[in-house]
Amino acid sequence: MRIKVLTIFPEMIRPMLEASILGRAIDAGFIEVELIDIRPFSELKHKNTDDYPFGGGPGMVMLAQPIVDAVESCAGEGFRGKRLYLSPRGKTFTQAMAEELSKDEELLLLCGHYEGVDQRAIDLVIDEEVSIGDYVLTGGELGALVIIDAVARLIPGVLGSDESSEDESFSSGLLEYPQYTRPREYRGLAVPDILLSGDHAKIARWRRDRALELTYERRPELLEKVELDKKDRLFMQALREKKSAE
Ligand code: ADE
Repeated sequence: MRIKVLTIFPEMIRPMLEASILGRAIDAGFIEVELIDIRPFSELKHKNTDDYPFGGGPGMVMLAQPIVDAVESCAGEGFRGKRLYLSPRGKTFTQAMAEELSKDEELLLLCGHYEGVDQRAIDLVIDEEVSIGDYVLTGGELGALVIIDAVARLIPGVLGSDESSEDESFSSGLLEYPQYTRPREYRGLAVPDILLSGDHAKIARWRRDRALELTYERRPELLEKVELDKKDRLFMQALREKKSAE
């Protein structure tokens, strides 16, 4: 997958692309991330990329011209993928969106700054606005990194077979069950016996029950979208009875 990130602060993004799984995925050629500095596209003498908002108000607004020209230069090089603008006003990014995007060959992420971007740039060259959550960041760069990270790990080959993306929070629709590693006892806290039993069916059932329980306690709204089998339903019924008796 080829990802283009348009930003006035490429240095905010670059170091994150060098470490860990993302760094390995890029080195191995599973993803290619091109950081495109918007500033050189400015037609203004001092390469300014922002100006005061019409109508007044605080902050600065990013100019349409350098953004539109930067995006159009990508199209000129044959880019045909989705063009997303990171903004707290956008649709909230989810695992389902990451899964959809991971099927694409190309992706463009536009990072805004200051009080936003001239609406005409959005109208002219952006397909969709995406937010990474209900809070306001200083710019879209962290949002772009969140999207790159969540999408990259879904591309086949990026995670090793021992780093599976299937059995974890959200991909099953449930929060992930608790994990333990050595030692068997730490500061008086023991690993649940069942995980040491070697009985794989029982372990799988225990993990499913813990995932159901955690999701019920912390994010009950997620349960509405999860398909429950008969054993799940029996467990949930017992759990609800136990909770209502407490
Ligand atoms: N830019 C500023 N805040 C943002 C958010 N919550 N998500 C994506 N981009 C942003």
